[in-house]
Amino acid sequence: MFSEKTVLRIPGPTPVPPEVTRAMTHTMIGHRSADFSNLLSSVENKLRPLFGTRGSVAVIAGTGTGGLEAAIANLVHPGDGVLSVTTGNFGDRFADIAKRAGAELHTLAYEWGTAAQPQDIDQFLTAHPHVKVILVTHCETSTGVLNDVEAIAKVVRQHDAYLVVDAVSSLVGAKLLMDEWNVDLVVTGSQKALALPPGLALVGIGDRALARIKERPARTLYFDLVRYDKDLNDRTTPWTPPVSLVYGLEQSLAMIEAEGLENVQARHLLLRDMTRAAMRALGLPLLVVDDKYASPTVTTVSTPDFDADAFRKILKNDLHVSVAGGQKKLSGKIFRVGHMGYVDAADMLQCIAAIEIALYKMGRPVTLGAGIKAAEEVLVRA
Ligand SMILES: Cc1ncc(COP(=O)(O)O)c(C=O)c1O
Repeated sequence: MFSEKTVLRIPGPTPVPPEVTRAMTHTMIGHRSADFSNLLSSVENKLRPLFGTRGSVAVIAGTGTGGLEAAIANLVHPGDGVLSVTTGNFGDRFADIAKRAGAELHTLAYEWGTAAQPQDIDQFLTAHPHVKVILVTHCETSTGVLNDVEAIAKVVRQHDAYLVVDAVSSLVGAKLLMDEWNVDLVVTGSQKALALPPGLALVGIGDRALARIKERPARTLYFDLVRYDKDLNDRTTPWTPPVSLVYGLEQSLAMIEAEGLENVQARHLLLRDMTRAAMRALGLPLLVVDDKYASPTVTTVSTPDFDADAFRKILKNDLHVSVAGGQKKLSGKIFRVGHMGYVDAADMLQCIAAIEIALYKMGRPVTLGAGIKAAEEVLVRA
């Protein structure tokens, strides 16, 4: 009966709204047609405000990692000094991409669960003035930390360097104003807060970054952002786009526009606060202790005296609720609850109730209803 039932509370892929699923069943059209040009223009007009940019947003067939690879392949040439600010697994991956591109790589690594500090970046750039590209993960999905991109961008600009932000699991869910904050390239993916299936990478291209890339053409053809930018002005894409996903994207963007971006972001913050209050009431330690750095899209919960993966199995098998496990050194030690995209307060109450029951079934000393009560109190006060 329930073989396909999954309540997907992982930090991506996230549930896809039925409106988006329907939009993706649109009859196939030629990608060099007026219909596709109109679709792309509509998407582009809606994407720019989400990125907070007047520049182009490249719509690329690929996943988030492809978008990160695109950003680096365009901005970084072999031998360039690059600083990777890493606060977890995805920061490490970002660094790996830069290293493979031949960068002279420097890393500023933080303990997992803590956030990057702008003054450290300032100090580093003062000591290494030749380093001109800085890589930062906005929401570090492996730890649930939301880094302060606005403050980091301020420092990076003071050193006349370029800032590339991995916003794969933050964009739409968390505030990010590319132009106003002086962020040069921003990357996101479709399967997170945009509530689409995986398969699209979106790269916001700031004016300064574009000028720099034009000065030093990229050696990649598929990911050539100058080409994407030029073709967008002609209302087309360089290569065959994933047409069905672009139809889905248009629908998802229309839904975000109808709700209003500020309301969408307030909803994400509410879901975060409900989840954090519930976990505290259940006596479960939060990995991100400081609320200031807690991501609005994913909450990470430590399980110091029980196996997080055994708990997740009960949650999935008995209650059909799927949460994610820890990555790398946090494997078995935490679970991660995704609350981004097509998710509302009632969804979180269901998830929290299921978490309480799974804990009870494991023999944990929980007071049934304590998490729900705390979450409801946050909700009714909002
Ligand atoms: C912060 C962050 N960066 C990059 C990625 C990689 O994206 P993808 O798996 O779509 O390549 C993810 C995916 O979870 C992510 O959360």
